[in-house]
Amino acid sequence: MKNAKQLNFDTVIIGSGLAGLANALLLAERGQKVAVVTKKTLAECNSYYAQGGIAAVIDKEDSVEDHLSDTLIAGCGLCDENAVRYIIEHAPIAIEWLVSMGVKFTENIESSTGFHLTREGGHSFRRILHVADATGAAIITKLIQKTLSHPNIVVLENHVAIDLILGDKIGGESNKCYGVYVFDVNLNKVITISAGNTILATGGAGKVYLYTTNPDIATGDGIAMAYRAGCNVANMEFIQFHPTCLFHPNAKSFLISEAVRGEGGILKLPNGYRFMQDHDERLELAPRDVVARAIDYEMKKHGLDCVYLDISYKSQQFIEEHFPNIYQKCKSLGIDIAHEPIPVVPAAHYTCGGVETDLSGRTNILNLYASGECAHTGLHGSNRLASNSLLECLVIGQAIVEDVLNKPKNKIMELPQWDESQVTDNDEEVVISHNWDELRRAMWGYVGIVRTNKRLERAMHRIKLLHDEINEYYANFKLSLNLIELRNLVLVAEIIVKSAGLRHESRGLHYSKDYPLMSDEIKNTIINKYEVES
Ligand code: FAD
Ligand code: SIN
Repeated sequence: MKNAKQLNFDTVIIGSGLAGLANALLLAERGQKVAVVTKKTLAECNSYYAQGGIAAVIDKEDSVEDHLSDTLIAGCGLCDENAVRYIIEHAPIAIEWLVSMGVKFTENIESSTGFHLTREGGHSFRRILHVADATGAAIITKLIQKTLSHPNIVVLENHVAIDLILGDKIGGESNKCYGVYVFDVNLNKVITISAGNTILATGGAGKVYLYTTNPDIATGDGIAMAYRAGCNVANMEFIQFHPTCLFHPNAKSFLISEAVRGEGGILKLPNGYRFMQDHDERLELAPRDVVARAIDYEMKKHGLDCVYLDISYKSQQFIEEHFPNIYQKCKSLGIDIAHEPIPVVPAAHYTCGGVETDLSGRTNILNLYASGECAHTGLHGSNRLASNSLLECLVIGQAIVEDVLNKPKNKIMELPQWDESQVTDNDEEVVISHNWDELRRAMWGYVGIVRTNKRLERAMHRIKLLHDEINEYYANFKLSLNLIELRNLVLVAEIIVKSAGLRHESRGLHYSKDYPLMSDEIKNTIINKYEVES
């Protein structure tokens, strides 16, 4: 059966998180006809769940040099200093844009900036703008309102991008992108989108791990699609584990913001001992890799299910004012954080690596851009500094828009339609759910906070078996959202393990017992489907 529909746009954006919506609105404002393709609802994205806030130097006492230095220290030698400087210097413009969109950051009338600035691990200064403890929801809600009312933007919810369409499909150059095949989940059919430019804004891959702070959409689709298309993918071994995810049987993926530690939260063992003093002089405000490893060490040493984060010594009023969302969520689960410590564990949180881009978001495939968590610009190095990622979505988003508008308009091409004449109905959904589970457990067990060569080998062995099985399934059965995601997830898992195996040192978020020291050589791990470049 062939599907007959082709939609044409100046630019197609895959993803409706901060990167996707910012790009859509900025392009639409400048006259482009844009499609936003998103696999669930517009709001279902990591950006919506962002708590702590967005880092920006807006206080006169603070400085770009200090923000730069904090980012470089957290990134442990692997940040691209040009990228860091560019993104940090453009932060005030990004904040102004959000304010112009109607985002109301928490204010502090006593401060010279007018805003309440909070602090997080690795930051030497209070520089995080926030909307209480639900910054992402406040930002995304405003941007969705603007998106839905914009005449130049077409929104395709419940549409999942399957694969990019390259020139070789139309007898042309394979390193040019002409659009994307998209599966309409409700109507069970594939549509072809032809576009002058394609922007991947598909977010990270937290769901590759059993425990994650990420919502279900975070399956690394953009990274997998780009890799299949021939893009370079960089530094995927650096998966950030957030130190403090709520530990409770009924709380799926609920984050306890780093701002809780920024405002004085103390990490304790069940007996009340403040263990961070044994690990780092910066205590609870050491960068995330350090704190997550310390928690992992203490949990393994004492055989604990969790550790505790205690902010209960602050007043009830302070807690309810600063952390209303966390306070209410914990209360609904029977934990009164104003009077008792919060049980927490580390969980996969952020994908520091991604599709390699320059500072205009360009990948190595023409007319294909990547923005936000799915991209690797060089900002985060081997460990992202808290609250730098929302900033990156905006600054690179603005740069992509300039690049798109400053080049001649690309011709919209007639593209071949998706052919599913060879596939039959899927009769064993259980295979998909079983493989999902197996993959995520293997990644958690073997490719987590502490790694060894043996564990990586074991993980790769299982992943390859799963990969073959899933590819065979994909080739023979009709599409579903779960199958598309699983195909991507297993490829991303393979890329993570391959990248981790290539790094013979411990640096930032990649800690290997076989190579416990940091090497003198500073090197990104860059791989693509043609060759391993590292
Ligand atoms: P996302 O916001 O994840 O959006 C990805 C979009 O792509 C989604 O709409 C998804 O549905 C869509 N998509 C994916 N694949 C497909 C496909 N195949 N087809 C169609 N659509 C697809 N960072 C900060 O800077 N500050 C914070 O305070 C902060 N707090 C966080 C709290 C939590 C709980 C989490 C999980 C992350 C937090 N982060 C924070 C990180 C930050 O939220 C993300 O890095 C950032 O939001 C990524 O934005 P994005 O637009 O790249 O991706
Ligand atoms: C948090 O609020 O702890 C998340 C901040 C981030 O991931 O940048």
